This record gives sequence, structure tokens and C-alpha cells, in this order.
Amino acid sequence: MIQNKIQLVVFLAGILSKASCDLYQIILIQEPKTWTEAQSYCRENYTDLATVQSDEDRAKLKEAANAVNFQSLAWIGFYREVWHWSYQNTPISYVTWDTGNPDVPVTDEACVGEKPSGQWGDRYCTDQYNFFCQTDKQDTLQNKFKLIGTNMNWYDAQIYCRTNYVDLATISDNTENTFLAKVLSDLGILYVWIGLHRTTLIPSIPWQWSDKSSVSLSSVKWVSGQPDVNGNKDCAKASTGGLMSDDSCLTPLPFYCREFKKKIQRVRFTITSDGQLDKSVVMEAIEKKMKEILSDQDTSSINWSVQPDGEIFQQQKTQENTQEKRCLIQ
Ligand SMILES: *[C@@H]1O[C@H](CO)[C@@H](O)[C@H](O)[C@H]1NC(C)=O
Ligand SMILES: *[C@@H]1O[C@H](CO)[C@@H](O)[C@H](O)[C@H]1NC(C)=O
Repeated sequence: MIQNKIQLVVFLAGILSKASCDLYQIILIQEPKTWTEAQSYCRENYTDLATVQSDEDRAKLKEAANAVNFQSLAWIGFYREVWHWSYQNTPISYVTWDTGNPDVPVTDEACVGEKPSGQWGDRYCTDQYNFFCQTDKQDTLQNKFKLIGTNMNWYDAQIYCRTNYVDLATISDNTENTFLAKVLSDLGILYVWIGLHRTTLIPSIPWQWSDKSSVSLSSVKWVSGQPDVNGNKDCAKASTGGLMSDDSCLTPLPFYCREFKKKIQRVRFTITSDGQLDKSVVMEAIEKKMKEILSDQDTSSINWSVQPDGEIFQQQKTQENTQEKRCLIQ
């Protein structure tokens, strides 16, 4: 198919500036919670814990604090993932913590056990349980995981699995977790070790944002001398000025949530073509243009809304196509 050259002219492009598109607010919750509790609270009631890495973020945070004359420190969404799988030190992607877990104090090493309910709890690594090893066979879950019916502490279990199989079990998804939980409930076993543990042995565990915003290390602002991580301060709190310092994630503190609002904004594109317009080419061109305009923002996805007649574009008599776009910033 011959792709026609098309030309896009964007009117009112200036309107899609950061100021009008950056539609979020920061909310201060004064009830002290641990970092993980605060994260659940923000995710359920707002969008997530606050990401604070621009002057605008810091201004909004200050505004939220000033509104209630708050002058203390509160959690924001910056943290380090300290839980890793024994096998190749892989950070966790899938988790299914039991309510209230993890709860072993951060000054202690902690290791993770699974219950017949499928939920995970952190325990002292010196506790003795049966355990799941993983083998080098991937064909079926039965072959992949081996339950060892001997009680050992987590470290001895790790040595046993590494000697006789591959390692302690890494659980990557709900299918695997459900399979293992069923083995436990069928056998009436109350707790087994899996390969997850909290490790501070990895030299530089990177900081990340709870809402998966990409970290801009040059724009995050630590209090001078921070972070002073000594192995158990893996969450960041901020002053009302947005300056961060690290603290133990189990410290109950007030916290800042961030909430996105969606706003509909009309942008007019004029499209000229030297032939028949191919819809997908037009869409691609508009998306490219939108990304350029919004390039300073984290626009992970631009979505098209389909009209009730199934069409995306409505042609106007003037041959201009008007399209409503939502300003979505994820
Ligand atoms: C969401 O907010 C309500 C009301 O403040 C609170 O009761 C609830 O616990 C919050 N959700 C979470 C997950 O904390
Ligand atoms: C936008 O589209 C992407 C990819 O098609 C989809 O994953 C995402 O959920 C959509 N977002 C919204 C808000 O509709």
C-alpha cells in the first residue's frame, strides 16, 4: 500500500503545556503508618504514595503540608526493594504477603515461609521448617518444585537445595504459588521455607518510586549526608520542603499520597495529505506529535477513544478532523 505523505499542523499546541496537563495533587495523611501500610492506603484511596522529584512536586507537597500547618516528616513513595530470591538474587516482582507481613524487625535478617493459604510471612531465618527446592526441570510444576520433608533453618535449607537441586524455590506467579499452596494443604503442612529473604548483602540496591515513575537521580533531593543507609533504612521520608532522608520502613509516620485527575482537553489537528488518508498513518502521526508535545512528561500511553459509531475520527465539513484527547499521565 502506498503510504501518503501527510502533514500535521497542530493548533493550540501551547495549551498542552505542562501546567495544564500536570493534573495531580499531593495529599497529606497525618495518621502515622508504616511505609507499606501507607502505600496500601494511598493505592486504595488515591493513586499511590507521592513521587517527589521536581520543583513542582516539592511545591505541591509544601502546599499540602502548609494547608494543615504540618511541620514534621512524612513518608513519600521512594524505597529500596530489599526482598530478593535466593536464586540469582532476583528482586521480587510477584508478592503475596499475609496481612501484617512483613513484620520481623528490620534489624534482623528475615526469611519467608509460605502457608497452605498461599500467603507469605517473614520469619526469623533460624526457625526450622520443611522447604521447597527448585530443580532444573521446567516441564511441569510437579517436576520443577521438590518438597523436602525435613526441618531445617533457612540457611541450611538453602545449602541443601543448592547441593542437591538448583536452589530454594523462586515463585514467579500465581499459578506456581497456588500449586505449592495446594501441596501444603494436601499434606497438612503449616509452613515451609521458600527462597525469598531480606538481604542487605547486595551492595547497592537501587532506590525506586512506588508508582514506577522513572527515577531522575539528578532531581531527587536528599538532606545533605543522606541517604546514610546502614542496611535497614530502605524507605524515604520527606520534610515539608521535599528534602528526603532514609528511615526504617517500619517506623510509623504520616505520609503523602498523590492523586491524578483526568481532564479532557481539546486539541485541533489539521491534516493535509497528497492522497487518500490512511487512518492508521494519521493516528501514528498524531501520536508522534502528542509525544513530542508532552515529551517532558511521563506519558507511558496515549489512548484513543472510540466514538459510539465505532470510528475514531469524525470528519468535519471543513475537512478538519477534531479529536478529543484525554490528557493521561501515568
Ligand atoms: C482508605 O481510606 C479509608 C477512610 O479513611 C480507610 O478506612 C481505609 O483503611 C483506607 N484504605 C486502606 C487500604 O488503608
Ligand atoms: C491505554 O492503552 C493501553 C494499551 O492498549 C492499555 O494497557 C491501558 O490500560 C489503556 N489505559 C487506559 C486508561 O485506558
